[in-house]
Amino acid sequence: MSMLVFCSATGAPGVTTTALAVAWALPLVHSGRRSLVLDADVAGSAILPGFLRAGVGADGGILAAATDRTGVSGGTLLERAVALDETGARWVLTGITDPTQGRTVRDFATTLAEGARALREPGVDVVVDVGRLGHRYEPTALLEHADVVAVVFRSTLPSITGARAALGSLRTLRGPAAGTLGLMVGAAGPYGAREIAQELQLSGVLTLPEDRWAAGILTAGGGTGRRFENSALLRGARALATDLSAASQALQPVRGVRS
Ligand SMILES: Nc1ncnc2c1ncn2[C@@H]1O[C@H](COP(=O)(O)OP(=O)(O)OP(=O)(O)O)[C@@H](O)[C@H]1O
Ligand SMILES: [Mg+2]
Repeated sequence: MSMLVFCSATGAPGVTTTALAVAWALPLVHSGRRSLVLDADVAGSAILPGFLRAGVGADGGILAAATDRTGVSGGTLLERAVALDETGARWVLTGITDPTQGRTVRDFATTLAEGARALREPGVDVVVDVGRLGHRYEPTALLEHADVVAVVFRSTLPSITGARAALGSLRTLRGPAAGTLGLMVGAAGPYGAREIAQELQLSGVLTLPEDRWAAGILTAGGGTGRRFENSALLRGARALATDLSAASQALQPVRGVRS
């Protein structure tokens, strides 16, 4: 896998939580590989005040990489990243806290996509939180060049309707055959999973279980010990990471990044 993007159409279905959960699960699924989260939500980072509990300055990460005079490579992105865990298997390139800085992220998106691609060989899988689509500074290049884009939604009518429109726009942007997927957080009520997939014009939808306790740790910080790794959320994230890796492999060779 090279670059995997999570986004949403409406509400707050769990994009950031899902991105962090999958990034946590990837090194468990592919031992020896590392994961890097790109915190690219131009509406503002939820990871800096959330999982990282404001323990890291907001002037590093993507902003620092974007103004790096020495040029940007996969290695530079990793150097600017902060560790999410003690083993050094999981990293995050932190995003912005002031939405007026969204333009910098948007303008840097093609370079970020190139950096993400360069990290595949050294064994780093990149997971991107793009947040809600349609922002005026949406980093479209990340959506365009990702191996897989997953639209996160809940099993409610507004969420499904929004996801349907978002998937349509993404198919226009990325082409109908590319890895553009739907990911439902929580159980499939009141609509069945098959009915939802049909509505979204997909052969199936990926899922991640509802697990407030483990999601709370990824949202607000907390212990990521054995109980966390054995939680329903992390077990679901491991299965999801496996499915997403398979979807990404099926698409190889990946389309080239164009500027
Ligand atoms: N799988 C889950 N199980 C239970 N609660 C979840 C799950 N995923 C997310 N949540 C909860 O839903 C809320 C929103 O999650 P999150 O911040 O990840 O959404 P988002 O789509 O990134 O929102 P935003 O558009 O504001 O960035 C949080 O309180 C989070 O803990
Ligand atoms: Mg978010």
